[in-house]
Amino acid sequence: MNLYIGSDHAGYRLKQKILAVWDTETDFKLVDCGTFDESSVDYPDIAFKVAERVKADSALGILICGTGLGMSIAANKVDGIRAALCSEPLSARLAREHNDANILVLGARIIGTLLALETVRVFVNSGFAGDRHEKRIEKIACIEIMMKQGE
Ligand code: RB5
Repeated sequence: MNLYIGSDHAGYRLKQKILAVWDTETDFKLVDCGTFDESSVDYPDIAFKVAERVKADSALGILICGTGLGMSIAANKVDGIRAALCSEPLSARLAREHNDANILVLGARIIGTLLALETVRVFVNSGFAGDRHEKRIEKIACIEIMMKQGE
């Protein structure tokens, strides 16, 4: 499965670290959606790029900016995207199990590198628990439909 990863300039170094240490033997193939250097870029552009690919591919993604806030706000504008800003592994596991999060968002200026790597590892190795959480995810999708009908 493809795992799309993107960052702005503030998240660039953490993105490169994740790419550098990624175990190529895992089921997830990391696909780098940029940015490709530390020049200033606008996080919504990268958030949209990753979110669209995650949606089209029913895949998972990782987004990184300074705080993780801008990327979260932008990615969650895309229907079908459930982007979760997590700063430790427990939240990352529960974001998958309870919220069926399909994008993990990290704040490179908030979280240390080792904690970020462990948070990513736990996120990709966790899965949606379904059951009572199913109808809540369906209600999120209903909100998206209702918002469109109101347009
Ligand atoms: C860039 O300076 C910074 O604003 C951005 O990376 C992010 O933290 C926004 O939420």
